Amino acid sequence: MEAAAMRKASSQASLADPDDFDLTRLLNHKPRINVERQRSFDDRSLGELSIAGAGTASRGGWGWGYYGGGMESYESMYSPGGGLRSYSGTPASSTRLSFEPHPLIGEAWDALRRSIVSFRGQPIGTIAAVDHSADGEVLNYDQVFVRDFVPSALAFLMNGEPEIVRNFLLKTLVLQGWEKRIDRFKLGEGAMPASFKVLKDPRRGVDKLVADFGESAIGRVAPVDSGFWWIIILRAYTKSTGDMTLAETPMCQKGIRLIMNQCLAEGFDTFPTLLCADGCCMIDRRMGVYGYPIEIQALFFMALRCALLMLKPDAEGKEMMERIVTRLTALSYHMRSYFWLDFQQLNDIYRFKTEEYSHTAVNKFNVNPESIPDWLFDFMPTRGGYFVGNVSPARMDFRWFALGNCVAILASLATPDQAAAIMDLIEERWEDLVGEMPVKICYPAIEGHEWQIVTGCDPKNTRWSYHNGGSWPVLLWLLTAACIKTGRLKIARRAIDLAEARLARDGWPEYYDGKLGRYIGKQARKFQTWSIAGYLVAKMMLEDPSHLGMISLEEEKPTKPVLRRSASWTV
Ligand code: GLC
Repeated sequence: MEAAAMRKASSQASLADPDDFDLTRLLNHKPRINVERQRSFDDRSLGELSIAGAGTASRGGWGWGYYGGGMESYESMYSPGGGLRSYSGTPASSTRLSFEPHPLIGEAWDALRRSIVSFRGQPIGTIAAVDHSADGEVLNYDQVFVRDFVPSALAFLMNGEPEIVRNFLLKTLVLQGWEKRIDRFKLGEGAMPASFKVLKDPRRGVDKLVADFGESAIGRVAPVDSGFWWIIILRAYTKSTGDMTLAETPMCQKGIRLIMNQCLAEGFDTFPTLLCADGCCMIDRRMGVYGYPIEIQALFFMALRCALLMLKPDAEGKEMMERIVTRLTALSYHMRSYFWLDFQQLNDIYRFKTEEYSHTAVNKFNVNPESIPDWLFDFMPTRGGYFVGNVSPARMDFRWFALGNCVAILASLATPDQAAAIMDLIEERWEDLVGEMPVKICYPAIEGHEWQIVTGCDPKNTRWSYHNGGSWPVLLWLLTAACIKTGRLKIARRAIDLAEARLARDGWPEYYDGKLGRYIGKQARKFQTWSIAGYLVAKMMLEDPSHLGMISLEEEKPTKPVLRRSASWTV
């Protein structure tokens, strides 16, 4: 079925390459499902929310909340799956579309279900790894991590099983309400945990939750990404089920506001980006990702946009929405201007003057051209580009980070041209960025003296291992989503084929090592849940690209005349 669908699609394509067809056309041929339910938060315009003119974005003529035309056709589509449920390894979607699923899919579903954690009889999440071979040393892999649950949540939503996602969202919201302390210091109210665990007390017959907000984490860093992922999952849930009631509850509205409050707080910032400690995201160890890491900036941008779509314009919500719109405008300008690197931009930086004073400065961050690493001159293709790892005074981290760049595409932080350029880069530098196992977390690895200084001699993050240039199968779902959004299915299929050839055989490792990602990671867990779920999500999205709408936001467009609900209902 998948092959047939693709064949059909490619016969409609006008592009030379049959794989890179115009996706919107294919999707326009699909029956629209449940038009009324499909009108979710995403279809609201700022005008409708009656705050038009409030923020600088509106003044600048950009409607962050308005979706119309273009990619809208599939992004606003109600993602099917609701009501269908599968209890065993058979995914509902395969049943629905009656295609012959790849043998790995059943195996993956079984493994994913084995990772489900229940709290007082209700499924509330999936643990990080169900690895029985790991010599009894579980560390915190027996916990439900917020970021690790993202692909699980998407897999369940795509398979028409929203309950576990709903339970997860509500439980983590309760955890957010806890008082969070590290020694004698109190954390911000909005902080969401990195992970939590269910403690069973068989004697008293009750389950208890314990959470980690950074106070137990190695290095004691709070996860800045958790709150953003929580908002993104809530929007995916809303989009997929058409159920707005959850996001509209006072509890969820407050949760969103608390997260937003924490990252929109005014301080000494001179940039709209979010200042972070090293290790506050997927790369949760010292890796030189302090400052303004792309992973956090892209997630921040996406969470701001999702929050804007879900907040109710009541007294508290409206004020928050205005702040969000203002920040979005500044953030997109900053990221697109200063984080973007392509051949031309690199050449400009190479010729930068330094020590420029006043607002006429071209080299605003005073980057010394001598700090451009040698590898970059060969790595940069003539065609292609990407958002660099970090930008702060006199410091550009030129490394490539996969997650941030894929999220930038999904959130439309990348302009369509930039998104296409990122895909071009991946294609041009396939050996480096994908190799034999998708996808390299960052490129290149740091080694020698630099590794000593940057990682603090971290033995887990030696060159081409783990966070330091290791390959993470979980990133496959993000790459696939980015491919679908940019219409580059050939890339997605090539990556999935690579993963399929090894993942199950190797026992679903957490990560791979080596320049080409050929070796199972030195300390990689087996049966790592997000490797399993990431594969399933990638497969389901390719099979039914309308699922992409759950996790993708359309590019903002110049504000059109204020639309009434009735006028935009069927847009
Ligand atoms: C590692 C990863 C982190 C992940 C955790 C659980 O610490 O770096 O991103 O959440 O394992 O899988």
